Amino acid sequence: MVGKDLEYASSQLKNGNLVAIPTETVYGLAANAYDESAILKVFEVKNRPKFDPLIVHVPNLKKAQEVVKNIPEWARLIAKELWPGSLSILLPKKDNLSPLITSGLDTVAIRVPNHPLTLQLLRKVDFPLVAPSANPFGHISPTSALHVEKNLGEKISYILDGGLCTVGIESTIVGEENGKIKIFRQGGIETSKLEKLLGTKIEVLKSGNNKNPSAPGMLKSHYAPKIPLQVGNITSLIEKNTGEKIVAISFKDDYSGENVKAIILSKNKDLHEAAKNFFHALHHAESLCPKLIIAEWMPEEGLGKALNDKLKRASCN
Ligand code: TXA
Ligand code: MG
Repeated sequence: MVGKDLEYASSQLKNGNLVAIPTETVYGLAANAYDESAILKVFEVKNRPKFDPLIVHVPNLKKAQEVVKNIPEWARLIAKELWPGSLSILLPKKDNLSPLITSGLDTVAIRVPNHPLTLQLLRKVDFPLVAPSANPFGHISPTSALHVEKNLGEKISYILDGGLCTVGIESTIVGEENGKIKIFRQGGIETSKLEKLLGTKIEVLKSGNNKNPSAPGMLKSHYAPKIPLQVGNITSLIEKNTGEKIVAISFKDDYSGENVKAIILSKNKDLHEAAKNFFHALHHAESLCPKLIIAEWMPEEGLGKALNDKLKRASCN
């Protein structure tokens, strides 16, 4: 069921059921973080391996203290600046938090999402919510209630409809490794923004491979549509596949042709707009059932870096 009923959503969560929630990044598949059987349902419904830890969502920094041992100065600084927002911070977890959430790690990823409905819900339920992206594991992330309904609708109690996600790609994950602050996943907050706030260069950890991910869950093959995706020079990829039905996803140019349906991420050459449209474009492309989806690399700057990382992993099939 899809709707905007906060009362219903919170009663479902209190009863140990799953509810899809809107955030500014992507829709999440939420469960009570203090209910282990609800957490297990999340893994089951997504078909997600247990070694891939979940992000815990709280309504504010104060509530984060319920689940973490301490908040170092650097983390407090960026949290104060950027929460609510598209930033998850890895912090030392308290023992009360189930190891299912963190896949046995000592740190937990915490985030205050920036969506009015979900912030209201988080205040209403009074427990933190674990919420991975509300898509089957490895598939394209959802940026609308409809995307969730299409892929998981029958398996979950309720989809809280908060409209289209305004950022459109997942949160940036930042944490400490060997005493250094590092980016574990590029996302909605640019690395340069964090560098400016913290006054230091920050290393971006490389996406792992399928056997040995650099961060749990940073698998090489991810975000993948069910139809093959090739990334490169669109004109030459179209030429190579003459006669085939193709969907071409570009940054700003129009590649429409006889067998080519074009999807443009941002006619205004705006990387924020491109990020907002990114997963929607992949869902749309897939729904058109072409032989092949073609995309080009985004400019390697700002959010373009996160988009290119996603393109790299979506095309690994
Ligand atoms: O924007 C987002 O972050 C969305 C919305 C719903 O909040 N959530 C999201 O969750 O993208 P998910 O489960 O699709 O991705 C979470 C990733 C995991 O795959 C893992 O790589 C990383 O977060 N992660 C979580 N806890 C971690 C930890 N303790 N150490 C390292 N990585 C962690
Ligand atoms: Mg995900």
